[in-house]
Amino acid sequence: MEQTLVLVKPDGVKKNLIGEVISRFERRGLKVSALKLVKITKEQAESHYAEHTDKPFFGELVDFITSGPVAAMVISGENAIKAVRGQMGATNPLDSVPGSIRGDFALTIGENIVHGSDSPESAAREVANFFKADELY
Ligand code: RTP
Ligand code: MG
Repeated sequence: MEQTLVLVKPDGVKKNLIGEVISRFERRGLKVSALKLVKITKEQAESHYAEHTDKPFFGELVDFITSGPVAAMVISGENAIKAVRGQMGATNPLDSVPGSIRGDFALTIGENIVHGSDSPESAAREVANFFKADELY
């Protein structure tokens, strides 16, 4: 059993895709273990994307993820991290297959609708950045 942090990013919230994204995970058999709408602070965003601190796109990434509310959730289930990443599609929506979230709803790498943790270590760190232990079910 794994837990993974999923964010419906500001572009996904603006496009009214929160329900669509959650529905895809639920239909797969994954569970929503925590859920809230939140405007991420700059500090929280920098911590969330800490592995990208030295990348040229880091500033834009932080500006974008803090530009509006995100739907933050913990998704749980067997192999949830890999299962969610598969359903999200490739980072660049142009490389995402139709049927994936990014392949169906996005066109640009900077606005790709959804985030999902990429490893058990990232998931533990990212879940703790958004939720207290007693907010998980
Ligand atoms: P995420 O962390 O948001 O789930 O996305 P990811 O794992 O698929 O991709 P990652 O490499 O972690 O990159 C984080 C986000 O940074 C933006 N990005 N821009 N301009 C660029 O070359 C570039 N590369 C990445 C994307 O919005 C990506 O989701
Ligand atoms: Mg990532």
